[in-house]
Amino acid sequence: MPGKRFRPAVVLLMAQATCLQSLGTINPAQLQLAMITEMIHTASLLHDDVIDESNMRRSTSTVNALFGNQLAVLAGDFLLARASVHLAQLRDCDVVELLSRVIEHLVQGEVLQLRHADGNQIAQGGRGEEPVMWPTFTEYMRKTWYKTASLIANSCKAVTLLNPVSRSQPYIVQAASRYGDHLGLAFQLVDDAMDYSTPSRSMGKPAHKDLVQGTITAPVLLALEDPAKVDANELFHAWHARDNHRVAELVHEGLGVEKTLALAAEHARQARHALLAPASFEGNVRRESALPSSPARDALLALCESVLDRQR
Ligand code: FPP
Ligand code: MG
Ligand code: MG
Repeated sequence: MPGKRFRPAVVLLMAQATCLQSLGTINPAQLQLAMITEMIHTASLLHDDVIDESNMRRSTSTVNALFGNQLAVLAGDFLLARASVHLAQLRDCDVVELLSRVIEHLVQGEVLQLRHADGNQIAQGGRGEEPVMWPTFTEYMRKTWYKTASLIANSCKAVTLLNPVSRSQPYIVQAASRYGDHLGLAFQLVDDAMDYSTPSRSMGKPAHKDLVQGTITAPVLLALEDPAKVDANELFHAWHARDNHRVAELVHEGLGVEKTLALAAEHARQARHALLAPASFEGNVRRESALPSSPARDALLALCESVLDRQR
């Protein structure tokens, strides 16, 4: 099964939606950026499947399962190196800096996640004795932005810099970036909810992997919010005892999946708002904030809906 190519689709639609006078035109640099975005994403998945010891993605065997960890890591490194060459060829230092930061953020997100995952060396100070520190919800959202939203937000921002017309309009650059922030957060929240609600077969990758790997995500943290529904001590105990069946039950009793999807819907709403916010006035000066109406903008708005009911 091919990947969803969600990220390059967002980048190309953003290029079309923000090109203003040259309506609907995507320039070659913008096309190249969409490709770089997908290459960085794929490189991160090659490394991720090694870290997660995962043997299935997109309904097929992972590279590490087929060829071993060493080749999978090198394949990821190679893709990242090729992406860097293509990035340098854009001859735009601002765009190079944005995408380089993304790579830094992807790694930071993974390290933050490891720090709060049960049963690993970083979380347990290398000794494997102390219990893991649970993340606060703010820490979880920060990790989520690094891990998923940064790539989407910074690519959306970068593509507006690659057209001189949109580059000269700060409100366009900012709207694109804010759209990516919220769409990325909504996307990952749905992913984390699906881990508790969707069978492996329809996702094309193992279900309940967060639970199995000891990664604490939104459904667990939000299920803990209501002491009338979930006894926090029982959930902590079941989590640390690796009683995955009971944890999943408690997450469902605490409406963790529903609350995660509601938060995703709120971020999808904010993504829409980033593209539609009405113009404001400073004195008599009209400050634009919305993108002009176009089929590409409509498609970006529609993505905010479809990200909420995706199956994989
Ligand atoms: C998937 O998450 C993984 C990511 C979104 C980022 C992984 C990043 C790294 C491994 C850092 C190295 C980065 C580069 C660019 C080489 P997941 O494991 O929660 O989801 P999954 O179910 O798709 O595996
Ligand atoms: Mg993984
Ligand atoms: Mg992972």
